[in-house]
Amino acid sequence: MKTFMNATLLSMLAIALLAACSSELNDAADLPGQPALIGAHGAGYSHLGSDNFHAKDISENLGWDISSCRTCHGVNYAGGNTGQSCNASGCHAAADGGPEACYLCHGDALTKKIYPQWYTSHATHLEGGMGSNTTIPCSNCHDQPANYSDPEHIDKTTPGKAEVHFNNVLAATKTLGTVGTPAFNDGSATCANVYCHGNFTNGNNKTVAWKGVDQAKCGSCHGDEATGSGLPSAPHPQSSNDCSSCHQSAIDKAGNPNPATHVNGILNVFGVERTDW
Ligand code: HEC
Ligand code: HEC
Ligand code: HEC
Ligand code: HEC
Ligand code: HEC
Repeated sequence: MKTFMNATLLSMLAIALLAACSSELNDAADLPGQPALIGAHGAGYSHLGSDNFHAKDISENLGWDISSCRTCHGVNYAGGNTGQSCNASGCHAAADGGPEACYLCHGDALTKKIYPQWYTSHATHLEGGMGSNTTIPCSNCHDQPANYSDPEHIDKTTPGKAEVHFNNVLAATKTLGTVGTPAFNDGSATCANVYCHGNFTNGNNKTVAWKGVDQAKCGSCHGDEATGSGLPSAPHPQSSNDCSSCHQSAIDKAGNPNPATHVNGILNVFGVERTDW
C-alpha cells in the first residue's frame, strides 16, 4: 500500500515533469507581491511537493475514489461550475480520460502502460519474459474493469489492494507429475503450484514471490537453480547437456529456448509434441 502510494506519486511527478504543470496556484513564489491563493481545497492542492497535494488526498483520505471531484469539476472534469478544468491543467489529457486515465494511478505516464511498474513481475507476465512468447492479460489474474467507475474496480473494503482471481489456463496445465492447483497466497503474495514455474513431472514446483526478484532463473523451474543448469534430474536422461539434440524444436544449439515452444504447455522432444508426460 505504501509502495503503491509512493510509486503513484512518482508517476504523478513524471506526469508533472512531462507536461510541465503550470497551475501551481498556491505557490506564493509564483505570485510575487500577492498573498498565497488558498482556494476551495486549501493551500498546496495543486502543488506536487505539498502535503496537501490532491494525489495524496485521493490515495490517503479518499480511498482512491475520485468520483466526488466530478460533483464540482463536471462529469468530464472539464470544469463544471468551478471554472477549473482538470484537463486544461497540462497534467491530465482529456483524450486519455483525464484524471481517469488508466496509466495515472498504477502505470507509466510516458509509455501509457497501465500496469504497476514498481516491481518487474507485471511486465514479465504481460509482455512475455523468460524465453517465452506467452503473455497473460489482466483478466487472468484480476477482475478487469471496463472503465474507472466499474463497481469491481476500486473497492471500498480494501482500497488500494488489488484482488487476485487466478484463472490462467496455462498455469493449470496438468501432467502426470502435477500436484495441487495454482493458487495465490494473499498474505505472502506468493504463487504456488503453477505449471509454468515447474509444477510438472520432474519439475521443481517453485513457489514464487510476486514482488520478489530473480524468481525465474534458469534452473528454478526445472534443473538446479544453484548451478543455473536446466537439466532435470534423473529419471531424465543425464547423458548429454546439449538439450537441442533431443529437444530440437524447443531450444537452439547455444541453449536459448525457442519462445514459441517453451512454456507453452507442450513438451517438445524428439520432434514430437507431447501432452502425456
Ligand atoms: C465542492 C466543490 C468541489 C469539489 C467536490 C472538488 N473541487 Fe476542486 N475546486 C473547486 C473550486 C471551486 C476550484 C477553483 C478555484 C479554487 O478555489 O482554487 C477548485 C480547484 C481545484 C484545483 C486547482 C486549484 C487548487 O485549489 O489548487 C485542483 C487541483 C482541484 N480542484 C482538484 C480537485 C480534486 C482532485 C477533487 C476530488 C478529490 C476536487 N477538486 C473536488 C471545487 C471543488
Ligand atoms: C484514480 C486512480 C485509478 C485510476 C485512474 C485507475 N485505477 Fe485501476 N486501480 C486503482 C486502485 C487504487 C486499484 C487497487 C484496487 C482496489 O481497491 O481493489 C486498482 C486496481 C486495478 C486493477 C486490478 C484489479 C482490481 O480491480 O483490484 C485493474 C485490472 C485496474 N485497476 C485497471 C484499470 C483500468 C483499465 C483503468 C482505466 C480505465 C484504471 N484501472 C484506472 C486506481 C486507479
Ligand atoms: C500473472 C498475474 C497477473 C497479471 C496478468 C496482472 N496482475 Fe496485477 N497483480 C497481480 C498480483 C499477484 C498482485 C499483487 C496483489 C497483492 O499484493 O495482494 C497484483 C497487483 C496489482 C495492482 C495493485 C498494486 C500493487 O502493485 O500491488 C494493480 C493496480 C494491478 N495489479 C493492476 C494490473 C493490471 C492493470 C493488469 C493488466 C494490464 C494486471 N495487473 C495484470 C497479478 C497479476
Ligand atoms: C538424450 C535426450 C535428451 C537430452 C539431451 C535432454 N533431454 Fe530433456 N527430455 C528428454 C526426454 C525423453 C524427456 C521426456 C521424459 C518423460 O517422458 O517424462 C525429456 C523431458 C524434459 C523435461 C520435462 C521434465 C522431465 O524431466 O521429464 C524438461 C524440462 C527437459 N527435458 C529439459 C531438458 C534440458 C534443459 C536439457 C538440456 C540441458 C535436456 N532436457 C536434454 C530427453 C532429453
Ligand atoms: C519460468 C519457468 C522456466 C524457466 C525459468 C525455464 N524453463 Fe524450461 N521449461 C519450462 C516449462 C513449463 C517447460 C515444460 C514444457 C513447455 O511447456 O514448454 C520447460 C521445458 C523445457 C525444455 C524441454 C522442451 C520444451 O518442451 O520446451 C527445455 C529444453 C528447456 N525448458 C530449457 C530451458 C532453459 C535452457 C532454460 C534457461 C535458459 C529454461 N528452460 C528455463 C519452464 C521454465
